[in-house]
This record gives sequence, structure tokens and C-alpha cells, in this order.
Amino acid sequence: MSKIFVKTPQQPKKEYPIIIDKNLLQKSGELIQSSTKAKKLLIVTNSTVEKLYLNKLEDSLKNLFEYDCLILEDGEEYKNISSLEKIWTKAIDIKLERKDAIVALGGGVIGDITGFAAASYLRGVDFIQIPTTLLAQVDSSVGGKVAINHQNGKNLMGAFYQPKIVIADTDTLNTLPEREIKTGLSEIIKYAFIEKTCNHNTNFDLLNFLQINSENIKNLNHQTIQKLIAICCELKACVVNQDETEKGLRAILNFGHTIAHSIEKCTNYTIFTHGEAVAMGLKGAFEISLKKHLISQDYFDTAINLLNEYNLMYKIPQNIPAEDLYNAMFSDKKVENKHIRFILATSKAEVKMFDDIEKNIILETLKSLK
Ligand code: NAD
Ligand code: GLY
Repeated sequence: MSKIFVKTPQQPKKEYPIIIDKNLLQKSGELIQSSTKAKKLLIVTNSTVEKLYLNKLEDSLKNLFEYDCLILEDGEEYKNISSLEKIWTKAIDIKLERKDAIVALGGGVIGDITGFAAASYLRGVDFIQIPTTLLAQVDSSVGGKVAINHQNGKNLMGAFYQPKIVIADTDTLNTLPEREIKTGLSEIIKYAFIEKTCNHNTNFDLLNFLQINSENIKNLNHQTIQKLIAICCELKACVVNQDETEKGLRAILNFGHTIAHSIEKCTNYTIFTHGEAVAMGLKGAFEISLKKHLISQDYFDTAINLLNEYNLMYKIPQNIPAEDLYNAMFSDKKVENKHIRFILATSKAEVKMFDDIEKNIILETLKSLK
């Protein structure tokens, strides 16, 4: 079992654990009990995850909690105000009180929307994360960003609201479609490229770990995957400890995301998963870094080889004009004073923020990604 603590600057005395292991769903009742005084729980999941894992979770809660469940539709398009309202209504119907808790069982969509409901219902009730996708276990369940989408953009309404505990059962990854595993791998590879800038006091050398363990990782070998998820959570927790509300350092977690978000927006969030867009965004960020002479050709080749090793080479559809992708970058939340913000590689596992990248370099890069 791996156990990592997230300490947030706003609540330094209230650190919370991330527990990573197999067979955790069966133990989640006790784990939840150790993290909250709640007597009643509202479990929120979706129609896919319900069929796979809700029974297991319920079995472990039965003798410990009073609980009720809400099953949402599956899909990013349901991460909206209407689903949020369903959670609020259910919480009111079952008379969930302020000392009670809301549990998210699912991927990043369920985690984000349920977290926002927990942050806002009765001005905040305890929130428990049980992430069941690789992306959610290494990224979205950690760090307290919760949100819903608006028809004009993703994650436009949200909050920073930390969970009381994150329970990552690696067994749940066995039922994940390969495409969703690859989505998580893109975010994992991102951590390898930002590791040193996270300022963690351990040198994990995640880049090397990913290079030498690719077969075990692709085969979801339990020990390797547990270690991998733990390293990513350590790095994310370290960044969140330093900058919970993204005043500075936390922006490095968006390495590869400037281009990724514009690809997602220009394809209406339908063609690519988030991770597929991030894989293209990472490649683009490396190309800009090379064009700006920030990194060596050798390091560039290492990065591209790693993406190749994990079969993460995708292309932007030819029919999307580079100019449209460029314009879409201005609707990103991270735009400040009309400057597009790029996180770029500066040397092995190090990145830096730039807001002065020339338009022609961005356009050339976008064209090269087609
Ligand atoms: P997702 O939640 O849509 O899950 C992907 C698919 O896998 C869904 O169809 C889901 O039902 C299914 N699924 C989940 N667990 C499963 C399992 N164990 N077996 C089989 N199928 C399973 O997508 P995601 O990639 O987990 O998350 C994407 C979302 O996360 C986006 O909305 C994104 O904005 C958000 N996100 C948030 C943060 C954050 O810091 N809060 C960070 C990154 C991404
Ligand atoms: N996924 C980016 C962040 O948590 O800041």
C-alpha cells in the first residue's frame, strides 16, 4: 500500500491521505470512517461505473454508514449545471446534513462535479474521492480542483475544495478501456517532463522509470502501476502544497495543455480524449521549446521517443485551420492580459512559463502537428 499526504497552505493542519493499493474498494468503509465524522453518505457515480463497482463499495459501507446513491449519465457532456442540481436535490431529499459526506466513485468527470456539489451544498460537506480511471488516480482526484462545464467552455465554474481522503483502488484499472489507460498515461508522461520543477526532495527520475518499465506499465503490473501512481501523486501533492490555488507554480501542471485545450475546443470535445489532446500538446510544447533553443535536439528526441513508446502519437485533423486553433487559445482560463501562456521545457525534467511566444512559431508548430 502507498500512502501520500497532501498538505494545503490554506489548511496546513488538515492534511489528507491518498491511499493507493489493490482491493481497496472492499476496505473503503473503514477508510472513509477514519477520515470523516459523517454518519450518512451520498454516493455519486455514473451508469458505467455503477455496474462495475457500486456493489463492492456498498458491501464495505453496509454496517458502517447510512447511505444513498445517485447515478448520473456517463459522459463529459453531463458535467454540467443540470447534473450538479441533481446532486443537490438528492442531498436535500435524503436530508444530508452538514456533518455528512458526499462520495465520488468514478473518473474525473464524476470527481469534478461531485466535488463541486460537496463544496457548495450547505456551504460545504465532507468530500471523499474514489477515483476509478488512471487519469483520475494520478491527477484529477488530487489537489482539490472541482468544476462543471458551461456551454461556452470547460471547467468555467468551480472551486478549490480538497477531499478528506482519496482511495485509489488499482484493481479498477483492469476494466478500463485501453483508450482511457492511454489518456492517463499522457498525464503521467507530463509529470516526467516537469519533475524537477515540482521541487520534490526525492529524485524519482520518472523519465527513466517510464523508459525502463514500459512493458510492465502497459500490462498494468500491479507493483509497477502502484509505484507509478504514487510518484505522480507525490509530485502533484508537492506542487499543491506550494501553490494550492494556482497563483504561480501550479501552472506547470498544465505543461502540454495550452495546445491540448485548443484542440479539444476546436473538435468540440468529441474526437479526442483529454489525454490524446495532451499527448499532441506535449509534442507541440517540445517543438516550440526546440524552436526557441530552450532544449537540445537530444532531449527533444527523448521526449518524442517516450510518447512513441506509449503509442501516444496523434495528429490534429487536416481540416482544422491552424489559425482557428490559435484563436481558440485565447478562450483558455489561463490567458492573462491577452497573452497566451505556454509552459515550455527548458532542460531535462524542467519547465518554465512563457507568455511571449511569437504567433508565427505557434502557427508553424500547430501545422506540424497535423
Ligand atoms: P471520465 O470520468 O469521463 O472517465 C472515462 C470513461 O471511463 C467514462 O466512460 C467512465 O464511465 C469510464 N470509467 C471510469 N472508471 C472506469 C473503470 N474502472 N472501468 C471501466 N470504465 C470506467 O474521464 P477521465 O479521463 O477520468 O476524467 C476526465 C475529466 O477530468 C475531465 O472532465 C477533465 O476536465 C477532468 N480533469 C480534472 C482535473 C482536476 O484537477 N480536477 C485534472 C484533469 C482532468
Ligand atoms: N490538472 C491541473 C491541476 O490540478 O492543477
